[in-house]
Amino acid sequence: MTAIETPIPVRSPLPQGLAGQTAVILGGSSGIGLAAGAMLASLGARVVLTGRDKARLDAAVEHARAAGPGAEVLGVAADVTDDAALEETFERAGTVDHVLLTAGGFAGTQPITEVTRDAARGTFDGRLWPALAAARTAVPRMNPGGSITLTSGNLVVRPRPGMTVLSAVGGIETLTRALAVDLAPRRMRANTVRYGMIDTPLARGVLSAGADRAGDEAMAEAGLQTPLGRFGTADEAASAVLFLMANPYMTGEILTIDGGQDF
Ligand SMILES: NC(=O)c1ccc[n+]([C@@H]2O[C@H](COP(=O)([O-])OP(=O)(O)OC[C@H]3O[C@@H](n4cnc5c(N)ncnc54)[C@H](OP(=O)(O)O)[C@@H]3O)[C@@H](O)[C@H]2O)c1
Repeated sequence: MTAIETPIPVRSPLPQGLAGQTAVILGGSSGIGLAAGAMLASLGARVVLTGRDKARLDAAVEHARAAGPGAEVLGVAADVTDDAALEETFERAGTVDHVLLTAGGFAGTQPITEVTRDAARGTFDGRLWPALAAARTAVPRMNPGGSITLTSGNLVVRPRPGMTVLSAVGGIETLTRALAVDLAPRRMRANTVRYGMIDTPLARGVLSAGADRAGDEAMAEAGLQTPLGRFGTADEAASAVLFLMANPYMTGEILTIDGGQDF
């Protein structure tokens, strides 16, 4: 580990301080990552978006460019479970300040008696390994003051029957604190945002709600059960990421955005 002698740089902790910085969003073509990319571009950050589906990625790049006219936005089609593709993504990104990992689905929901080693391994390979691989690949290219933001969900604190494997992915939170300690001598940071139900294509898929008006109504109806009467928006979810990226004194933190859903 390369330790550096100077403290982490002091700079504005406001999101505006992200102007001119480079952020790589692994999972930037939908939902929370898509919203974060557009917000970062609107602030004048250089943004690198990834996702597997090229058409969806191209649309996300256009969306971010529209949000931040003049901002540099690059799309790299890549699967985060593919180490070589991750390497190529960061090679193309060049020097990086911030990384957000939102890639991941909802796999790992078998009853415990039906869990197979292959299925569990698939969930861990899809959710835990990419966090380690992203950190391993990004850190040599990151500037001091830079950050890695990971994603977890409130299953970690409110497990549900039949979701033992998916809940175990909450190990991402322990990994975050370990990574924060590991990266501190380089004056880099690691944090996680833990989400409750956020209205994104992923959440709609879980609740069998479409992207149409009937889907909107189904989400609104289901959201009424939460303390604040609706699910979170992707923008509300993404703004927590920008806070963690921008504030140089935030590290090792698990920030919950769930509208009180785990009361
Ligand atoms: N929304 C919620 O209510 C909620 C709650 C708790 C936690 N979370 C977590 O928050 C994260 C973001 O959720 P979201 O709702 O924004 O999901 P989303 O709308 O499905 O977006 C996921 C993004 O990740 C990409 N992706 C998925 N697997 C990938 C892979 N293997 N390689 C590269 N890109 C990949 C997707 O594009 P491609 O499919 O084209 O690759 C897409 O851009 C997820 O990790 C999710 O588990 C969400």
